[in-house]
Order: sequence, then C-alpha cells, then structure tokens
Amino acid sequence: NSSTHISQLPAEIMLRLFHYLSPGDLCRCSQVCSSWSELAKTGSLWRHLYPVHWARGDYYSGPPEDLDQEPDDEWVKSRKKEGRAYQEWDEDADVDESDVSGHSRGSLAINTAQREKKLLNGIIQNLLPAVGPSVKSIVLAYSSTVSSKMVRQILSFCPNISHLDLTQTAVTDCAFDSWSSLGACLSLEHLDLSGCEKITDHTMKKLSVGLGDLTSSSCFDKRSERRAKLLKSSPHPITLVEERTLRPAGRKRQAIIFKAGSGRWSAACTPTQVWVLDPADLADIEDAAEWSRRGGTSLPDAESFVETQLVESSCCCRRSRRSRRRGPRVGSNASYLQQQYALSGEMFCGHSTCCTSDMALRTFTGPQCKSGSTGSGTAEFRTKCSSFPQCPERGHRTESSEAKRSLRFLSLSGCYQVTDLGLRALSQRGGLPSLEHLNLSGCLLITEVGLQELVSACPSLNDEHFYYCDNINGPHADTASGCQNLQCGFRACCRSGE
Ligand code: FES
Repeated sequence: NSSTHISQLPAEIMLRLFHYLSPGDLCRCSQVCSSWSELAKTGSLWRHLYPVHWARGDYYSGPPEDLDQEPDDEWVKSRKKEGRAYQEWDEDADVDESDVSGHSRGSLAINTAQREKKLLNGIIQNLLPAVGPSVKSIVLAYSSTVSSKMVRQILSFCPNISHLDLTQTAVTDCAFDSWSSLGACLSLEHLDLSGCEKITDHTMKKLSVGLGDLTSSSCFDKRSERRAKLLKSSPHPITLVEERTLRPAGRKRQAIIFKAGSGRWSAACTPTQVWVLDPADLADIEDAAEWSRRGGTSLPDAESFVETQLVESSCCCRRSRRSRRRGPRVGSNASYLQQQYALSGEMFCGHSTCCTSDMALRTFTGPQCKSGSTGSGTAEFRTKCSSFPQCPERGHRTESSEAKRSLRFLSLSGCYQVTDLGLRALSQRGGLPSLEHLNLSGCLLITEVGLQELVSACPSLNDEHFYYCDNINGPHADTASGCQNLQCGFRACCRSGE
C-alpha cells in the first residue's frame, strides 16, 4: 500500500481543495509553507470579501446576493457602540497612549474593532496586491475602522469590482480617487453609500466618469482605426478572436506571447511558457495570470501549458419633472477624458504587459515562431488585460471592456450633502440605463429638478425601489416609494424628530 503525501498532490488538486476552505482556514494554510502561501493567494479563492464579518468570526464568502438581508437592529447597534468606543479610545490613545486594557469603557468592543482594522490592513497589504483584479464584491458596511485611505487603496487594487457596500462608514470623497479616470469602475453594478454623510457631489462625478461614457463614439472609432492599421501592418494574416471562442491549445498549436517592439512584431523570440486555457472557466485565466506572474510556475503535466515564444513589444498605453436650470458645462474636462480614453482604450492594450511582460495573456496560435522570425501563415490573437496593481490603467481599457454603465443599485440614503449637481453628473455620459434601485432618502439638498433630470436618464428604474424625500413633489410621485429614513433614527431625514 503506497501512500501519497499531501505535498505531492498537484497544485490544481490543492486549489480545488482550497475552494472548500473558509477565509480563516485559507489564512492558516498560507502559513504552512511558501507554496501553500502562494496557492492561497489565488484569485478565484477571493471573489467576495467581507472583512467586517470575518473580523467577528463569520467567515461567509459567497456572493452578496445570497446574503442580501438587512442586518438586524441588534447587529447595527453593537457596530455603532463598537465604533464609538474605538473612536474614543483612538482619540485618547493619541493623547496619553492608553492601552485597551486600561481603557475604562468597552474594551471588548475596542478589541473587536482593532481586530477588524488589523484584518483590513492585512488584506490591503498582503492579499489584494495578488488577487485584487479577481475581487468582485467588497462589503464594508458598518465598519468601525475603515478609512477613506483604506477604501482608496482597496479600490485601486480591485478595478473589476461589481458590488461595493460602504453603508454607514465615514468615507469621504477621496476614497474614490481611483474612479476619476474614464472607465475605472466599468463593472460596478451595486453601490451602497447609505449613511456615508461625508460624501458630496465630487463622488458622484467620479462615479459617473468611472462608469464610462456611452455617448462617446470617438474612442470606438479610434480603436477601430488602430485595429485596422495593425492588421494592415502585420506581415501575417491575423484573425482576431473573442476571448470566449478560445479553446485549450494542444501541443501542436504553439502559442506565442508577443511583446511588440516599437509597434512592430519583433524577432527577439525567447522560449517561455504561456497559459492557454479553457474559456469555460475564466477563473482559470485569472489564476493563470497570477501564477504566471509569480514566475511561470507550472502545474505538473498540465495539458493547459504549451511552450511559447516571446517577442518584444510595446504597449499602446505608453503612447499612448422638467429641467429648468442648466449647471456649469463640463465640456473641456469631458473632451480631455474622452481623448485620454481614446488614446488608451485600443484593442491591443493588455496593460498587464505594460507593467510586467510575463503576466500577459496574449497568445498567438498558428505557425511556430522561429527564433529571429515571426513565422508565416494565419495566426490567432487574443488579449486580456490582467489588471495588475502596479498598472495605473488596471483592467479597464480592453476591447471587451466597453462602457456599459451597468449600475443597477445605488443608495445614497442619508448622503445629505449631495445636490442636483451630483445627480446631473450621474445623468450624463449616457445616464444609468440599467439602474433599477435608487435610494435618495435623506438627500436634503436635492430638488425635483435634479430628480427629474436623473430619472429621465434611468429608463429601467423601478418605482417600487425609488425612494426620495416625501416633501419633494418629484417624478413618479404617485408610484415611487417615499423616504426610507422616516423611521430610521440614525440617518438624515428632514422629518426626523417629528
Ligand atoms: Fe424628507 Fe425624509 S428626507 S421625509
């Protein structure tokens, strides 16, 4: 009877096993040895992050839709108590460096908040640099310790996020700085800023810019032009294929990573490895990108590997009710941003290559590239921007990443500083065509004019999930829901105390 030690299991089997573990167990496994530590930082293991829950021993890590239930009053109360105790302790600590044990009030609450802060810092420093592009959801609701700086770092590591919940946190506008460039949060579908009282119109503007621009045809035209130019200049016929049409390449179909030099395919072919993966599981592609970045580590006998050749290249990004009032025009800014987008959003911009060449998932399949030449005949080409942390353009400049403005849920409940100008920003660049749920309860400075302007740009809005102040005679007044903050007690409402 021969036995197999766990260390002899192939990495893909280990990864499969890791998928059954909770985030807490994964952290423990990562301390076993360096190879487990690397494996535990695989993107597909960290799709959904709930640091606030994890710090309190609840290691749920499934999609937020399955968790989508309002926290009960007790939970909210204890988070608030914790937040207050931690804040007091933090302020005292600045003055007399008092420790938790010496603090008279709420040492348990302070310990919990400290654990949360430590966990957040650990995630930001150790985990997100490796898995950030794979992260889809981050729930930080009712966090006692998350700061704007932390959120800013998190968002800059996670350009492909689709669900962000910052309910009742103290974040400010600067938390969203990474969304200030066009298309920076293209995948965002759910944004909950309920109770974020420091948020202003600036966040609305950043959000609107980051969601992309549906009205800009110039960037698309420019990309088509560049694509045509590249096809024309290539010495070989090139077939552009969609990511989803890719098939695992057999050993006969050589894959080549092209790193174009000076805009041309150059001849410096150096043998290396590239993943050619089953498109049915995009998680594999992201995993591959990560593992490749860590030195091209291969799985033993994995069929998905092929020998490849590397050719020098350069990245394109291196070169490259009725409205009655009219607010200030943003034409100059918009045209500047559109220009930037047009310059950087071209077909062959896999920004992983502009950061680290060996991370790129650009493959050529076709005739084998001989050293010193690019071969001949038909070739297939694909790109995927792997969105790595070092890249300022992370993950939102590829052909497949056209602006969709796919925000479906937006809650600004209690964000009382938001005005009509913020709403106008959201209604620009093509509006929010997918928005179904809009909560503007407690937005004390908005008027029916701003509401009307936004609503006219939200064709999918469901009146049942449309909330705003009862004192505004706004759009869909008969069918929309009223203010949700009347009974809330802790969020802004013009009728609080009545
Ligand atoms: Fe006016 Fe709540 S904000 S009723």
